Amino acid sequence: MSFITESSNSIPLVPLVKNELEDYLKEQQNFVSNWVNQSSFKALPNEFCLIPNQSGQIDRVLCGVPLFSENNPDSAPIWSMSSFSTSLPEGEYHFEANVSENEKIQAAIGWGLGAYRFDFFKKDFLVPKKIPLLKVEANQLAQIQAFVDAFTLVRDMVNTPANHMMPEELSEVVQELAQQHQAQFSEVIGDDLLTENFPAIHAVGRASEHPPRLIKLEWSSDADNTELPLLTLVGKGVCFDTGGLDLKPSKFMRNMKKDMGGAAHVLGLAHLIMSFDLPLRLQVLIAAADNAISGDAFRPGDIIDTRAHKTVEIDNTDAEGRLVLCDALTLACESSSSLIIDFATLTGAARVAVGTEIPALFSNSLTLARDIQLASDNTGETLWPLPLHHAYRYQLDSPVADITNCSAEGYGGAITAALYLNEFVDEDIEWAHLDVMAWNNRTRDGRPKGGEAMGLLAVFNYLQQRFV
Ligand code: BES
Ligand code: ZN
Ligand code: ZN
Repeated sequence: MSFITESSNSIPLVPLVKNELEDYLKEQQNFVSNWVNQSSFKALPNEFCLIPNQSGQIDRVLCGVPLFSENNPDSAPIWSMSSFSTSLPEGEYHFEANVSENEKIQAAIGWGLGAYRFDFFKKDFLVPKKIPLLKVEANQLAQIQAFVDAFTLVRDMVNTPANHMMPEELSEVVQELAQQHQAQFSEVIGDDLLTENFPAIHAVGRASEHPPRLIKLEWSSDADNTELPLLTLVGKGVCFDTGGLDLKPSKFMRNMKKDMGGAAHVLGLAHLIMSFDLPLRLQVLIAAADNAISGDAFRPGDIIDTRAHKTVEIDNTDAEGRLVLCDALTLACESSSSLIIDFATLTGAARVAVGTEIPALFSNSLTLARDIQLASDNTGETLWPLPLHHAYRYQLDSPVADITNCSAEGYGGAITAALYLNEFVDEDIEWAHLDVMAWNNRTRDGRPKGGEAMGLLAVFNYLQQRFV
């Protein structure tokens, strides 16, 4: 917990952009300007200068921040002060009065995100950490904490290694979230997936000692109002992706504990939606499976059935994400959703296209894609649309089944994966698909290396604007 709401002597933090420093110092006593000049503080981003009072205690802290530019999401208020939650000395702080209310909230969220550590498996996990605390307005704490908790949930789930985050543990996380928000929980496990008609999820997960699951959370902001629009979130929950019989080389398998990142994202988003009580009905569907190898593993060349009764020729067992997702998307359409959004660590091709730090966004509605992208403005996140280019659909033609799970050509792999999913979504239901990395390859302000929520702020912002 990085926040407090009461403090009698918290220290003000004064954000300063490099070129504001001179003017700021002109208005200060000589004592202060001399001190700052002698400590060679230049107000560069992440630099800080402790200003003492007459008795040698900290009077305030000057904090270097980047100049805000719309073209640079890293300069957004959420990240611009986030490094100070770990770099400042232990103590109690607050943002000085000049900072606007919205910026304070954003910066406070970033403050919490910057303090994140994944140390659950470290010996000293239970030793209390001495960290700087930020004083926030009591009436803003719940909102700030909801964002921090949503990110923390995503990061913790992704960082947790596969031996501790199999479908059964994923299910426990959903149960806890459901309990926290008085939502309904249900699931279909193992061979019941066959009788309940989720054959593709079963095929991907059946080789594992940890049976696959279709996990469902349902919530409504007003249980008596059946007219509320239904939003369905669908998450890829592949707890570990070995590639299956089309085994991944070690280098590519190394990080595949993160392949349930899509599931983690939709749970983080669900937490925000329920915490903010958005006026809607929510359904979260998680297709959880361990893409493992055993004598019963599904094989290249197999033809499997799907919930939609389209047969799929398995060209590659490593294109498993779209298989588990297609059954969940079919279910999402059966329940007449107004809007479906899925998150998935679906393709390496999306990473080649836009790199690891930008989610690729697909939609069957140009308006929806545009509006979600617009909603990312000033959130500190970037996401970018790629075309759902129907002309490439021929790449998924199979000589022996209704569709194949992967194109032989290999070009535009993120697009053909999205086109595969699109086959399982009703044309008249708005649908967006985010192909995410779910992982920071490097540490940036507020975003330590490791599991990460990506596109969450943009999508939540969109939902907040749409459902008012
Ligand atoms: N989980 C991977 C995709 C992935 C890999 C995402 C690395 C992020 C980083 C997915 O299941 C996969 O293996 N996709 C294959 C599909 C191919 C066989 C058509 C890929 O992208 O290489
Ligand atoms: Zn795979
Ligand atoms: Zn995968």
